Amino acid sequence: MIISITNLKGGVGKSTICQNLAVCFVNMGYKVCIVDTDTNQTSMKWISFRSDELPNIPVFGITEAGALPNNIKILNKDYDIVLIDGTPSLSKMTSKILLLSNITIIPTLLSGADFWAIEPFVERLSETQVINESLQSYILCNKFDSRINLEKTVVSALKAFEEDFNIKTLDSKIKQRVIYKDSMLKGLGVYEATDPKAKTEIIALTNEIQSIIENFN
Ligand SMILES: Nc1ncnc2c1ncn2[C@@H]1O[C@H](COP(=O)(O)OP(=O)(O)OP(=O)(O)O)[C@@H](O)[C@H]1O
Ligand SMILES: [Mg+2]
Repeated sequence: MIISITNLKGGVGKSTICQNLAVCFVNMGYKVCIVDTDTNQTSMKWISFRSDELPNIPVFGITEAGALPNNIKILNKDYDIVLIDGTPSLSKMTSKILLLSNITIIPTLLSGADFWAIEPFVERLSETQVINESLQSYILCNKFDSRINLEKTVVSALKAFEEDFNIKTLDSKIKQRVIYKDSMLKGLGVYEATDPKAKTEIIALTNEIQSIIENFN
């Protein structure tokens, strides 16, 4: 199963979500690896801080779009779940990632600027869905704050994508929490850290994605 974390916008939480899903899935008993496609190599750096005593998550850095398809096909045979940490651009790399993915998760923040940036990405996704017909795309609200009315408005606007482009918004939402920053620096996922609320929300997200995997056709 190939699950990518994508968005043309930088800093929306692609690497954070990718690493945290990897940690949850590996702790659930899945054989998991990460492919880091970003030239910043955030997930490669993250894994360098991870203790050898924790469940192993191999991270492969592949920043050449041309090298991606063969490598992903090989890894998909060896691992239950291949997570692709995406790159923040509408590049050849992003097109290849979307063509190869079974599922893509699109983390987004809920400002106007972030919403506007999703629109061209959604157009690229709908073009890809013509070729990769089984691709399932899900928006994930990150750094979510339900107290802010604007955020509620953006969530309703995202719902429109469901009908227009067949892109659903996940029920699970991730709040802004310091533990996400802390655990990245320690090579951890919040599942392995000390904030019970963060752990609960990341388990809920992983369970929601697990049920998508189980029903994948
Ligand atoms: N829910 C959250 N709560 C608090 N901090 C977060 C959360 N999600 C992400 N961050 C922080 O926001 C910053 C950007 O996150 P991250 O690096 O995961 O984004 P990205 O989309 O991968 O960025 P890039 O496009 O540059 O690769 C990081 O400092 C990360 O620790
Ligand atoms: Mg990143």
